[in-house]
Amino acid sequence: METLYLKYRPKKFGDLIWQDHVKRLFANAISSGEISHSYLFSGPRGTGKTSTARILAKSLNCEKPIDGYEPCNECESCKVIDSGKSMDVVEMDAASNRGIDEIRAIRDRVAYLPIESKYKVYIIDEVHMLTKEAFNALLKTLEEPPKHTIFILATTEIQKVPDTVVSRCQVVEFRRIPVEFIKDHLVKICKMENMKFETEALEHIAKKSMGALRDAIGLLEEIARFSAGNVTLKDTLFVLGEVPIETVEEYVSSLSSGNAESLLRLMETIEENGIDPMNFAQETLEFVTSKLPDPVIAKIGKFVSDLIQRLKFEEKQFDTFKVLSVFEALNDKGEILPERSVLKVPKAEKAVSVKTDVDRLIDWYAKEGDMSVFACLAMSIVKDFGDRILVISKIPLHHELLKEKSKTIEMDFKRITSRDVKFVSAYSEIPIENIEPEIRESLVRTLSISGGKLLKEGGGEIV
Ligand SMILES: Nc1ncnc2c1ncn2[C@@H]1O[C@H](COP(=O)(O)OP(=O)(O)OP(=O)(O)O)[C@@H](O)[C@H]1O
Ligand SMILES: [Mg+2]
Ligand SMILES: [Zn+2]
Repeated sequence: METLYLKYRPKKFGDLIWQDHVKRLFANAISSGEISHSYLFSGPRGTGKTSTARILAKSLNCEKPIDGYEPCNECESCKVIDSGKSMDVVEMDAASNRGIDEIRAIRDRVAYLPIESKYKVYIIDEVHMLTKEAFNALLKTLEEPPKHTIFILATTEIQKVPDTVVSRCQVVEFRRIPVEFIKDHLVKICKMENMKFETEALEHIAKKSMGALRDAIGLLEEIARFSAGNVTLKDTLFVLGEVPIETVEEYVSSLSSGNAESLLRLMETIEENGIDPMNFAQETLEFVTSKLPDPVIAKIGKFVSDLIQRLKFEEKQFDTFKVLSVFEALNDKGEILPERSVLKVPKAEKAVSVKTDVDRLIDWYAKEGDMSVFACLAMSIVKDFGDRILVISKIPLHHELLKEKSKTIEMDFKRITSRDVKFVSAYSEIPIENIEPEIRESLVRTLSISGGKLLKEGGGEIV
């Protein structure tokens, strides 16, 4: 399939969107025959400069221009220029041909009459990329342009074009295209392409493209391809890696009601949708600060801003984000988090071969005890070795917290089960059952640095 933005390249002045002053300028100039010999098209990317240069080249050479200035797009001259094969319309991309040789070649050729047309038109795109020497060579040509030659220079960065060159040209400014106009154009393209769309999606694309119509059409195409021809806001946000506002709202409301279950579900959505946790936290902070001074919201705002600080320093950002969020919902002993729903243990992480005493301990924490300990235990592998309870956490933060509270946990365990055990917290990303002997040693070292120990089945340390 032809790229959409090329397929919808404007073919006459009347097709140009927003740049009315450009249309008027050329309508007058061409009708009255007062053509300047060098134009400098200046303006942001994707606003119609190259398109207009080609339209102008066609119009100047058209055999029967409509209304005296619009290219007919049907005569031989229009067709050959459209096909890019015209001998008299020369396009050069200064970004890839920066040198003096190319400009000299142009200088040597300008003297000759056009072969098949009235005018020879040189279009030099990204002209600000030319070297100093090339600019000087170009300047000589611009100073004495033959009658039959028109130069159209185009640039997104006019401030990089030497004043001497700018002053030799008639400057035509292209402007950023307003969101409304971009949106309407996208609607038109969707209809012509038989694509389904949500208006909000097209509006969002229009806003994102910052006035550049090409970027907007390019984005539309990317999203349409991703969503098999149905351009929804949801897919648009996904393709752009943006955070849907509903997710932020749900996150804030889950935090404020202490609904850990819904938080866990949300985390899954966030991870599945490839949303960057830092990005998400930032959006959330913006959202809550817009809602101050509600005291619950203020507290969440403080939490989120701490979270952002924390995320900056954590390698495993997503894990940190998940754990801290669930803690925030569970931790706070009801001060601002009144309702709590029971945290369901995700299946894959359910403790392997836990014994009844461990179950009772976890149950107690869920109902009466420290909810942060509960969350850690519920997400880790807990093993009862008789004299020791080993907890292997997959997340360093869990491990840290359990290590810190190990004495209290031992006391709680004794009260509930009347058993004396040593409580050992370890951290391992690998399920302990599958550890290869070769990597065990380095793992033991890692665990001992982080305060954890790796134990054999049935107790006893592996050294
Ligand atoms: N004013 C416009 N009216 C209609 N379509 C436009 C307009 N501006 C850009 N487009 C769309 O974007 C595509 C690229 O436009 P064009 O190449 O003319 O932009 P440009 O200003 O030369 O950009 P750059 O500075 O990046 O070279 C066109 O093929 C067309 O689909
Ligand atoms: Mg261009
Ligand atoms: Zn024509």
